[in-house]
Amino acid sequence: MVDLAVNFCGVKFRNPLVLASGILGITASSWRNVVANGAGGITTKSLWLREHKGHRNPVIIANQYYMLNAVGVPDAGVEKAREEIGKFLTLRQAPIIANIIAGTVRDFGETAAQIAKIKPHILEVNISCPNVEDEFGKPFACVAANAARVMQEVKKRLKGCGAKIPVSIKLSPNVENIVDIARACVDAGADALTVMNSIGPGMAINIETHEPILSNKVGGLTGPALKPLAVKYIYDIHRALPKTPIIGTGGVLTGEDAIELIEAGATLIGIGTGVYFRGAEIFKKITEEMQKWCNKNKVKKISNIIGILHSIIPAIHV
Ligand code: DHB
Repeated sequence: MVDLAVNFCGVKFRNPLVLASGILGITASSWRNVVANGAGGITTKSLWLREHKGHRNPVIIANQYYMLNAVGVPDAGVEKAREEIGKFLTLRQAPIIANIIAGTVRDFGETAAQIAKIKPHILEVNISCPNVEDEFGKPFACVAANAARVMQEVKKRLKGCGAKIPVSIKLSPNVENIVDIARACVDAGADALTVMNSIGPGMAINIETHEPILSNKVGGLTGPALKPLAVKYIYDIHRALPKTPIIGTGGVLTGEDAIELIEAGATLIGIGTGVYFRGAEIFKKITEEMQKWCNKNKVKKISNIIGILHSIIPAIHV
């Protein structure tokens, strides 16, 4: 039997597959279902401090090539989130990554402090939603200094309430140099990095009515074609910051896809759009495919091949 367990910032996952943020339900019972389907852990959707209304329909376009979404990050606020996370934690089934979002640096800190009270295993800071304007008029993830400000505030507030929760910050692919942003976040205290959020935003048009299909007009692009981008960014970041663990996410549909991101340097793998492509059973399917691949390639422990590419080939400067 192949050992698929990984250790991420001191938290043990039975396998590297985690539900990515924003996918499926937001209740303890829906997370339980994801774990029953084979996930090693789950990430909550992005949680706001106060109730936040999403966009009106249509909010998602999905076909066999891609998904475009501008759900608008709806959420009932921190009280409801704490209730559901609390319920899930009592089940002791799998680690939970609480994903938080805010429009200001201050609110990021406050939300982190509020969510920390319930003690999720890991906090993921979403500074990269392409559909939410922040106080600087563009996602925090697009400017290294702004990303660092969020990180510093979150760490300061967690320290202030004595919470020892590892923090991963979710980066955007829509930047000139993702390594610079990653480095700024790590210098500001990030324990881990989530690479990456959706690309774009993109647009789709209803050519009969001559209108954008999404009510928000534009949305974040995801799906299997993003995988090479995720692989390259994970590769670059792992090379620059080898001690910082990475949650790799971007277009993973199969066990081979997951292995590819792991070889580039990811420790955990987020599955998002894949759930739409292969159903909720995708976690079991990918786990089996990873087992098979490992058996064929004589890999006994998946953790042995994290970032293996880096020990085999010299730096690629592209
Ligand atoms: C939304 C949030 C995201 O982080 C993303 O990548 C795409 C869409 C949203 O809810 O609108």
